[in-house]
Amino acid sequence: MATTTLEGTARALVAPGKGILAADESHATIGRRFEPLGIVNNEENRRRYRQMLLTTKGIGEFISGVILFDETIRQTADDGRPFVDVLRNEGIIPGIKVDRGSERLADYKKLGARFAKWRAVIVIGDDGRTPTPLALEANAEALARYAALCQEAEMVPIVEPEVLMDGGHSIERCFEVTEATLHTVFHARWEHKVALEGMLLKPSMVLPGAVSGRRAPVEDVAQATVRCLRRTVPAAVPGIVFLSGGQSDELATAHLNAMNRLPEAAPWPLSFSFARALQAAPLTAWGGDPTRVDDGQRAFRHRARCNSAARTGAYTAELERSGR
Ligand code: 13P
Repeated sequence: MATTTLEGTARALVAPGKGILAADESHATIGRRFEPLGIVNNEENRRRYRQMLLTTKGIGEFISGVILFDETIRQTADDGRPFVDVLRNEGIIPGIKVDRGSERLADYKKLGARFAKWRAVIVIGDDGRTPTPLALEANAEALARYAALCQEAEMVPIVEPEVLMDGGHSIERCFEVTEATLHTVFHARWEHKVALEGMLLKPSMVLPGAVSGRRAPVEDVAQATVRCLRRTVPAAVPGIVFLSGGQSDELATAHLNAMNRLPEAAPWPLSFSFARALQAAPLTAWGGDPTRVDDGQRAFRHRARCNSAARTGAYTAELERSGR
């Protein structure tokens, strides 16, 4: 295994001031995002939408990598350039979501992907008893096996155990489940001999459940999340790239910012790999209208700039307003 190359790619993905755009929605998920705006969910509209995002000028200043979907990695821009080349010209590393099976890894490598994401979903039940240890082990085992296969194919695995925000649980319960999840994930990673230096972790933040009726202060979320990661994630991991998980875009940015302002520096760069928190604003601004591509790109650049600032704790209300 070419650990040096893998480590180089992993470190480039969390380079200072940069993070990842997850633009890897399945057809069903992108359909749910298009529907409220009346955008028809067909291949051409998906291509036009991804083109709007990926051709945003200068976005490589804030975005290190993009996770593409199986359809998108094979698509081209209006000028005939494959999207993978559009990204490379901006100095952005192309990646891929492999939820549909790791046997495609060699193909994706040929198409230009240098990293790959797999997501496992953990649901916190309101009964206080789920997820069960068996459920956590089964998910961790699948994530570790995929990560080992990625490294064998010389691609950096992004390991994504998402503890869903859905539910009425407290922030303390989310902490407990996230701690157990990450502990199990890193144990399975050890058993499968996945090189820590050649992977990235994409976790959820530690939050109260979306229907708990409670909202934790931004500081509390930042502290709980970093405390949980410190207990479970080896310092040899080159970086943490959070998912946004359905938080509003401004709140996801504020949480990342607060984590990077904590007095004691974390052992890993704390960055982002957001889908909704980077895309909600540009999707609405574009709205499927070819005359509003500039509006969409401006909104995307602004969110990318805000999250880039959050990497160093430099995100402010003033910066947020500057993009309005
Ligand atoms: P969100 O940021 O919308 O949670 O998406 C991240 C992701 O890649 C989910 O798999």
